[in-house]
Order: sequence, then structure tokens, then C-alpha cells
Amino acid sequence: MPDHLSYEREFDEIRPQQYGWNNSVRRSPCMNLFPISLITLIFLPLTSSIALAQATVEKPSAPLKAIAVVHPTEGSKVSGTVTFTEVADGVQVHAELTGLTPGKHGFHVHEFGDCSAADASSAGAHFNPTNQPHAAPDATARHVGDMGNIEADTSGAAKLDYLDHHMSLANDDRSILGRSVVVHAKADDLKSQPAGDSGARVACGVIGRAKSQ
Ligand code: CU
Ligand code: ZN
Repeated sequence: MPDHLSYEREFDEIRPQQYGWNNSVRRSPCMNLFPISLITLIFLPLTSSIALAQATVEKPSAPLKAIAVVHPTEGSKVSGTVTFTEVADGVQVHAELTGLTPGKHGFHVHEFGDCSAADASSAGAHFNPTNQPHAAPDATARHVGDMGNIEADTSGAAKLDYLDHHMSLANDDRSILGRSVVVHAKADDLKSQPAGDSGARVACGVIGRAKSQ
């Protein structure tokens, strides 16, 4: 037998088998589509809900930030801003005030975001969600609101920058959002109960959420 004839025979024997295989696939398109559509129906809501959950988790990538614009109480000229920025190991506090008498002034987060009273008494007591005694900002046991003192120069201007390890800007019981910053006439002695004997309230500002960046 010549070589080219044996090749043709082999080819003819293989071809019907290939047709048979192809026909069986093409014969029932609905039967093949059914499991695919079923799988899609099961997994599409699942994958889309996972995507939604990831989007919700990934959204606050910028650090949380809050601000209190403090206004003078009756008879005072103290005003300024205090910002709170969430960092890896706490909350960075930055304050800039003017109109103070030179020296140290008690500086706290009070429990209510209400500066409506002329003497700021509406802001309530020091923010103390953990039921601890009044103390210095670097104390282990202290009010969450205990930021210590802010010190004014001879012109009455004051700046403060420190990292706080007790307060939070998250949605938890140490969160200072919606509370207030109060500045006092006298220095906080960091030990007298319940408020460091720092005298009258000379400025008050509600802590609100600021634009993250
Ligand atoms: Cu205070
Ligand atoms: Zn306190």
C-alpha cells in the first residue's frame, strides 16, 4: 500500500469520531447553559456583597480628623482652634489660641458639646468615660479629657502640640467627637479633684468632624 493511501485511511477513521464528539456538545446547548446560569445566580450576589464590604472597609483610608473652634465666654477674649488627628499610636492634638493672660491655663475636653451657657457651664464636667480621677495628660489613670495646660506667652498667644494616648476619634466610648474643648482662667494643678482647680471657663468650642486629608 502506498504511503499516501494509508494516511488517508487513518484520517477517515479519526474524522467521524471528531464529529461525534462535536455533535454531542452542540446538541444540547440549554443543558450546558443551565448549570452556568445557576452558578452565576448563586455567586453574583455573594461576590457583589464582598465587593461592597471591601469598599466600606477601605473607604476611610485618610486619617480621622476633628476640630474645635473655640469662642470666648462672657467677658473673655480667648479664641482659637484645636485640631485632633488620628495617628498610629493615638491622637495628635494641636492648639492655637490668642487672647489669654500670660502663663498656664487648664485645657480639657468636657463631656457635652454644648457651649451655649455664657460661662460654658453647659459643657459639663471633664469627659471621663472610664471613671478615673483627674490627673495629668501623661498619667496612666486620668480623665480621657485631661489635656493638662496650655501656656500663653507675654502676648497672650499659646500653642500646644502633643500626642494623646487616651482619647479616640473612632466610634467608641473614648471618642471626643461631639464633646467640647474648654480653656480655663487658671492653671490646672493636675491633681485637685475633680477638675485641677483651674477656675472659670474662658473659652469653649464644640468638637466636630473635620475634612480628612
Ligand atoms: Cu476644663
Ligand atoms: Zn480632669
